[in-house]
Amino acid sequence: MKHETIAILDFGSQYTQLIARRVRELGVYCEIHPADSAPADLKSSLLRGVILSGGPGSVYDDDALRLHSKLLQGTWPVLGICYGMQVMMHELGGVVEPGSRHEYGPAQVQVRDESLFEGMEPLQPVWMSHGDRITKLPGGFRVLGETDNAGPVAVYDPERNLFALQFHPEVAHTHNGRDMLRRFLFEVCHCSGEWGMAAFLDEQVDAIRQRVGDERVLAGLSGGVDSAVAALLIHRAVGDQLTCLFVDNGLLRKGEAEQVNKDFARRFQVQVRHRDASRAFLEQLAGITAPEEKRKRIGETFVRIFEEEAREIGRVSWLGQGTLYPDVIESASDHGPATTIKTHHNVGGLPERMDLEVLEPLRMLFKDEVRSLGGELGLDEHFLGRHPFPGPGLAVRVLGEVTRERCEVLREADAIFLQELHSADLYRRTAQAFAVLLPVSTVGVMGDYRTYENVVALRCVDTEDFMTADWSRLPAEFLGKVSSRIVNEVRGVNRVVYDITSKPPATIEWE
Ligand code: XMP
Repeated sequence: MKHETIAILDFGSQYTQLIARRVRELGVYCEIHPADSAPADLKSSLLRGVILSGGPGSVYDDDALRLHSKLLQGTWPVLGICYGMQVMMHELGGVVEPGSRHEYGPAQVQVRDESLFEGMEPLQPVWMSHGDRITKLPGGFRVLGETDNAGPVAVYDPERNLFALQFHPEVAHTHNGRDMLRRFLFEVCHCSGEWGMAAFLDEQVDAIRQRVGDERVLAGLSGGVDSAVAALLIHRAVGDQLTCLFVDNGLLRKGEAEQVNKDFARRFQVQVRHRDASRAFLEQLAGITAPEEKRKRIGETFVRIFEEEAREIGRVSWLGQGTLYPDVIESASDHGPATTIKTHHNVGGLPERMDLEVLEPLRMLFKDEVRSLGGELGLDEHFLGRHPFPGPGLAVRVLGEVTRERCEVLREADAIFLQELHSADLYRRTAQAFAVLLPVSTVGVMGDYRTYENVVALRCVDTEDFMTADWSRLPAEFLGKVSSRIVNEVRGVNRVVYDITSKPPATIEWE
């Protein structure tokens, strides 16, 4: 791909991906690279500029992340953000004072020079999150803005085109952060802003045709947005050389199988094989209660079914997958979470075992870009706005042992919850909602009878990135209506509770 590119060097900030999204929203393609990348690793012929992300460390830590010194010689404009500012200052001979005064939260920057702040008010609300501060600037640097607490928080060197900000322009609390980034990209780096999904679509169609030639591609459809967009994109490129496989694992939501088949096979004339493998999956899950063991068995069963289907189709050389950029970054990251909280990649290992080449046309895209690409490909709003659904499906929402009957109870309760969210126009205003079947029975009374039945928990969250989330403040009347419908309409449920935990400390799914 030949795009003007901004390289973002990742010093480990929780906001690194957010910087990348902001840059792309402004129509400029960007990629995230390890902090110590050399200029040659950054596809330098099309490189227009470099952004150094923030990070949790201090330049005085023993294992402090450093940057390649050639990047600060003025060949490309560089913008350092937070730790990125400190590492730049430290590298060029400035003085960074170790944090006696930590500062997290809102601050007001007094603007001293308009270079990044043109047309903005003299007092700018920004978001700070740092311990160390700069007490002496390296030679050649001027102050663009300062605060009472931290001194110079926006600086630049006009000779070498180096900019640095102590605060975070990528977060919404920095009110004019987007404009500051825009000025850096367009005025300083001279980007043209041509990146968008229409251009990406044309390019990818050509690229896929070239790579695949006249060979056959197999792609799984899960019912979710990512696999659907990947399949449609591959289909646009190679038509009937693509076969999609939809595996009904018995762990899907109500009506899901029908929806996938209807949307794809009929509307887009894509070949979809439908395989009912629910028995195989449920057999594997019998007696299993540990969440990770459930995931492992489901993953293995998927692999086996894919192998069988690929053998039957014959001559398949490629496996199409809807992997997104956050997954790519997460698996490549040196300083990502050291422990596995949940294994999210269920069909890992599939291509190696089947000796297939992997086709991942969405691997450089963020979720919102995939939605917009889906729009270009003709998928409707309703489909593109669907909440994510985990690969192991209802298996991680039927807590304890998974049986066909318990899945059925959960499916009905979940369908009522989603239906009511749609009717109340709350579905599209929340990020993910679902019901969970708990492995406990509680006492109730229905008519004149004592009951001893299941509890259903409702979970609904607001989030942009699914890494952190808050529970949705659904109206009490709404929750009351859902509860009474579930208890009245779903046999085997006599109590409904609502989950009011944020992530962290809880995760979104219960298992
Ligand atoms: P957690 O529960 O970790 O979930 O807060 C974050 C997001 O990931 C989804 N999720 C999964 N997706 N396979 C998937 O494909 C999985 O095993 C899995 N576990 C969680 C979850 O639904 C939420 O959107």
